[in-house]
Amino acid sequence: MSFDEIIDRRGTHSVKWDMMEKIYGVPAEGGLPMWVADMDFRPPACVQGAVEKMAAHGVYGYYGDDSGYTDAIRWWMAERHGWQVEAGAVFTTHGLVNGTALCVDAFTAPGDGVVLMTPVYHAFARVIKAAGREVVECALALKDGRYEMDFDAWDAQMTGSETMLVLCSPHNPGGRVWSRAELEGVAAFAERHDLVLVSDEIHHDLLMPGQAHVPMALIEGIEDRLVMMTATTKTFNIAGSHTGNVIIADEALRAKFAQRMAAMGLSPNSFGLFMAEAAYSPDGAAWVDELCAYLDGNRKVFDEGINAIPGLASMPLEATYLSWVDFAGTGMAKAEFAGRVEKTAKIAVNHGETFGKGGESFLRFNIATPRARVVEAVERMQAAFGDLQ
Ligand SMILES: Cc1ncc(COP(=O)(O)O)c(C=O)c1O
Repeated sequence: MSFDEIIDRRGTHSVKWDMMEKIYGVPAEGGLPMWVADMDFRPPACVQGAVEKMAAHGVYGYYGDDSGYTDAIRWWMAERHGWQVEAGAVFTTHGLVNGTALCVDAFTAPGDGVVLMTPVYHAFARVIKAAGREVVECALALKDGRYEMDFDAWDAQMTGSETMLVLCSPHNPGGRVWSRAELEGVAAFAERHDLVLVSDEIHHDLLMPGQAHVPMALIEGIEDRLVMMTATTKTFNIAGSHTGNVIIADEALRAKFAQRMAAMGLSPNSFGLFMAEAAYSPDGAAWVDELCAYLDGNRKVFDEGINAIPGLASMPLEATYLSWVDFAGTGMAKAEFAGRVEKTAKIAVNHGETFGKGGESFLRFNIATPRARVVEAVERMQAAFGDLQ
């Protein structure tokens, strides 16, 4: 398949394309949606084939026997991430926002503090607040144009009411692949403050060349407080299947989680399981390698064009297809720079402040789209900020 193929997604109930006018005022006609994190590509043929096989059979009853699905997950994690997953440790949720919400429900009480390293994926704060827990924002330090952890500052911030930490690894929106030393620091921090550590690793396959992701599960001594979250949905662009995995090695945490799943009557959607099983395969792996190489090409085009605009700085991406662009150097107020992007360039993007403290001067651009559109976006941005050249 070619990632260059332009596929018209308008009128398909695509949130990215069909809601950009309503949410951002960017017209459906002529607008470029570079916001929500899904890609404008079809998944690999193995995934398409699984759906076609289901459709050809045509009976859509309840799903049973997830051993093939679980084996596929175990194969993928061992093969691609060097992580051995025990079959009984895998829970299937309706995606990882749902997985996060279930963790908050299972492992914290109303009023507890849940720690986030901000700026970070906005839905974390949304579910924590909706569950009546407090979001405790620990600000990432911006050093030489990239994010770093700041444990001394965070230690001083803890009050004792915190019971959970949600880590985003690799990091959305900063694109960092956390190093082993940084992850050991996170584990020690969780230990010091007695926090359950939820590690959302949904972006772990989307690595730029030369990058190596370390699963939190490979950090020693953290197993008794660790919850891992992974999914096929970002990697293979099947987010609409709403299928995620919460993987828990510790028996006590597992029992609590299982109890909450049962209390809510949750069971999986067969489409998501069929697609995930097909995706986690040698064919799926070969496709992901091609995808990452393509995204790296997009990243180069985007960064070169954006960083050529005086005052704009695109954070170097180590993983993900989400470019985090700082407009602070323009000296413009948020309304001015966001207005130029949305009204002049007609590009829909995520607004930085929704990711928490530290995001105010940023906009997030999704570059997982055919290269021609990335080129077009860069040209529009250069024109919209042309007076700065
Ligand atoms: C870190 C992170 N977690 C979770 C999600 C969404 O997960 P799901 O669609 O499985 O709910 C996203 C989507 O962008 C994300 O960036």
